[in-house]
Amino acid sequence: MKKIRKAVFPVAGLGTRFLPATKAIPKEMLTVVDRPVIQYVVDEAREAGIEHFIFVTGRNKAVIEDHFDLHFELYDTLERRGKTTQLERLKGMQPDAGQTSFTRQQEPLGLGHAVWCARDLVGDEPFALLLPDMIMETEKSCLKEMVALYGETGNNIVAVQECDPAEAHKYGIVGKGADVHSGFEITGMVEKPAAGTAPSNLFLNGRYILQPEIFAILENQERGAGNEIQLTDAMLKLERLQRFYGYHYKGRTFDCGSPEGFIEANIAFALWNPEMRDRIGALIDELFSEMHPAERQKVAG
Ligand code: G1P
Repeated sequence: MKKIRKAVFPVAGLGTRFLPATKAIPKEMLTVVDRPVIQYVVDEAREAGIEHFIFVTGRNKAVIEDHFDLHFELYDTLERRGKTTQLERLKGMQPDAGQTSFTRQQEPLGLGHAVWCARDLVGDEPFALLLPDMIMETEKSCLKEMVALYGETGNNIVAVQECDPAEAHKYGIVGKGADVHSGFEITGMVEKPAAGTAPSNLFLNGRYILQPEIFAILENQERGAGNEIQLTDAMLKLERLQRFYGYHYKGRTFDCGSPEGFIEANIAFALWNPEMRDRIGALIDELFSEMHPAERQKVAG
């Protein structure tokens, strides 16, 4: 069985749900507490044993490449000023020379098309795919657990979580079959099902392990939901040739592509940070029990 060495990060998305914040700044570079969103996702991949990080970018995304570059002048200045904590932290996040690749999705044709753009960089080996909007609890690495399941089952693995059935139309939804090791057999997949037609409430949460045969399918994949080339539709075709297993992730996931999910992520990661927990927790309690300033004004007349 081939080891999962490479991970693809489709970071070409326009971030329209988050305008105007994302007009000039890629949504992946927005900060959750003290790191850009993309750093959480790359750290998750590294923790799962990934050795090569492939970014499918687009126009206005060059700053992502800069973020993962070795910033010699900055490191040198930090060293001379004795700022060793900051320096060590930066070095710990730094990919080694040759560990990153960047390619561009020239047109926003959908997630399936973005993944297909990485075909030559991935080559003929299974790979991980991490959607950068979704960040997960650091203590419970979703991809690491999927890699462990892959070690037992091989084939293709998709991570899923439960959603409110009323929200199922926003996601890819899977059908659940028999349990296998720490996962289960996938019996079907549908991208953004119409209300009342979802096969379950288990949604694809943005982490995948895929076999390279997906690329040949994506090459000819017709447009699906939202008139985009959908990865889920291509996976459904691959499922006729190879097995797919579901991994039910039990940690928390935050959709940082939406303002609400992004704020939830900031609150959660601030409260999980021992240095911030007390202060931020106290502020939240205080604000929650206070009257909103607009309400106060109304009462004052
Ligand atoms: C994509 C996938 C979908 C998945 C979702 C998770 O949809 O196509 O299957 O459930 O990400 O965020 P998008 O968010 O691009 O509409």
